[in-house]
Amino acid sequence: AEKQLLAGKTITITAGPTREALDPVRFISNHSSGKMGYALAEAALALGAQVNLISGPVNIAPPSGANLTLIESAEQLLQASLNLAVQSDAFIGCAAVADYRAANVAEQKMKKQGDELTLTLVKNPDVIAAVANLKAQRPYTVGFAAETQDLANYAKGKLHSKNLDMICANDVSKTGLGFNSDHNALTLFWQDSSLDLAISSKTDLALNVMKELAQRL
Ligand code: C5P
Repeated sequence: AEKQLLAGKTITITAGPTREALDPVRFISNHSSGKMGYALAEAALALGAQVNLISGPVNIAPPSGANLTLIESAEQLLQASLNLAVQSDAFIGCAAVADYRAANVAEQKMKKQGDELTLTLVKNPDVIAAVANLKAQRPYTVGFAAETQDLANYAKGKLHSKNLDMICANDVSKTGLGFNSDHNALTLFWQDSSLDLAISSKTDLALNVMKELAQRL
């Protein structure tokens, strides 16, 4: 039965934005709502999986039954992800990780100065690439790619460069889809095939993504 498609499997999912502190009261972040990642967690639970949900700050109630780990920064996300990935059959990186963080986090609130302020940022670790490059206990690794053009080429490029098994790509230039929306459309890519999932609720899409994943575990 459908309810058992992921029975006995452990799936770890990352969701939401990261926050990169600038000082005790300020941070850099993005508009990720966490809806897609939370929908994936609900779908995995519905199919009988054990679910670890690693989440940045969002305004959604966590799915009951998931093992929730709350993080803020990309570095915290990396630690939690590596810890849970090695105990997982699949790892799905749906979090919108800030690409950069402040080179130095000020200990005290930064004071207003002149008319311009220059921040020095340094690159964050690539969490999903770190998971996909585990040498032992590597889970089946699934990434997400939000693109505004040339979806197939950029998504396939990330599939290869990050060493992923599967990538779910969405066109964020289409209004009403993707970031913060309740709806989305996805194209799934593997090394040698692809599948279009038409516009639908994130709930429906998540269930279809999980069913595709279940066939490959
Ligand atoms: O390279 P890009 O950010 O478009 O790749 C998106 C995918 O990589 C998503 O699965 C996202 O969760 C993951 N990612 C990550 N760590 C980063 C940047 C992106 O895990 N620092």
